[in-house]
Amino acid sequence: MKDILILAIESSCDETAAAVVKNGRTVLSSVISSQIDLHKLYGGVVPEIASRKHIEKINPVIEEALRDGGVTLDDLDAVGVTYGPGLVGALLVGVAEAKAIAYAKKLPLVGVHHIEGHVSANYIENPDLEPPFLCLIVSGGHTHLVIVKDYGEFEILGRTRDDAAGEAFDKVARAIGLGYPGGPKIDRLSREGNDQAIWFPRAKIEDSPYDFSFSGVKSAVLNYLNSAKMKGEEVNRADLAASFQRAVVDVLVEHTMAAARDYHMKKIAIAGGVASNGTLREAMSRACDKRGYRFYRPSPILCTDNAAMIGAAAYYEFVKGTRHGWDLNAIPNLRLGER
Ligand code: KG4
Ligand code: ZN
Repeated sequence: MKDILILAIESSCDETAAAVVKNGRTVLSSVISSQIDLHKLYGGVVPEIASRKHIEKINPVIEEALRDGGVTLDDLDAVGVTYGPGLVGALLVGVAEAKAIAYAKKLPLVGVHHIEGHVSANYIENPDLEPPFLCLIVSGGHTHLVIVKDYGEFEILGRTRDDAAGEAFDKVARAIGLGYPGGPKIDRLSREGNDQAIWFPRAKIEDSPYDFSFSGVKSAVLNYLNSAKMKGEEVNRADLAASFQRAVVDVLVEHTMAAARDYHMKKIAIAGGVASNGTLREAMSRACDKRGYRFYRPSPILCTDNAAMIGAAAYYEFVKGTRHGWDLNAIPNLRLGER
């Protein structure tokens, strides 16, 4: 069979990224231009600034991806692009760019769901991984527990009722003065702390064993900080970070294992920015080993936003026949499984 080469573009939040991916699993190049240093100044992503920066970076990033991959636009079979969910102005930059290239080169255009991209990051380093499998998706905007029934086909078992897991990390990090983005900083600081030092609640939702809620643990952290301040007590930030992280990871692992048991899933994957968390990776790996499940997780650089994962997802959509027209638009609240 002829190789399928896809140029993939991702610009849904604060990373401008492009990649060239062969047959959905081989990454010829992956370029990520992060805006983190810019948004850090404001303590979070400023949408207007993100769009402007994407406009500035998108062409150089694509050129670099083509150069690194040793290909030209003439070698491509399709252009894949994230069209939702995400920041509308940020998404539009990638969508307009992908349309322009596809139109000029008469290539098929394949719109990709950002979360389908995160899940597909698992295919890149695990040539043997095929659906069905269970996947925990934990990012800055999403927390989903899904069965990947087939490529791009999802059965959603659970989701967050309030904050996403990554959002909880970011908010707690801000509260203890660690800055944006908080996840990696809490991950690092936790290594110096005792995760048993403070007890934070593990939320359970009546009748929805696979749903999540992180607003309770976030409030408990804020209350703890307030009450320490009133009493004039010094807070050990490393202990607090470790205890908070443990509470979140415990719930993520527990719900995933419950779903694996109930749905007879023996292949478990994690995806999304929070999937790069060291404690989550260790805890999930241990829980899977204990039960004889296979555990899959992308390398940390493939967990956070990148275009290689979009190229992997675009390939499976392309093979299935998904094609988008020149009217493809950015859909900021695109639902998983929707086309
Ligand atoms: O998937 P992602 O790059 O963007 C979204 O699609 O949202 O996820 C970003 C989120 C942020 O909330 C960030 O704090 C979190 O992932 N994150 C982490 C770690 N690295 C990134 N959370 C915990 N531990 C980490 N090491
Ligand atoms: Zn993401």
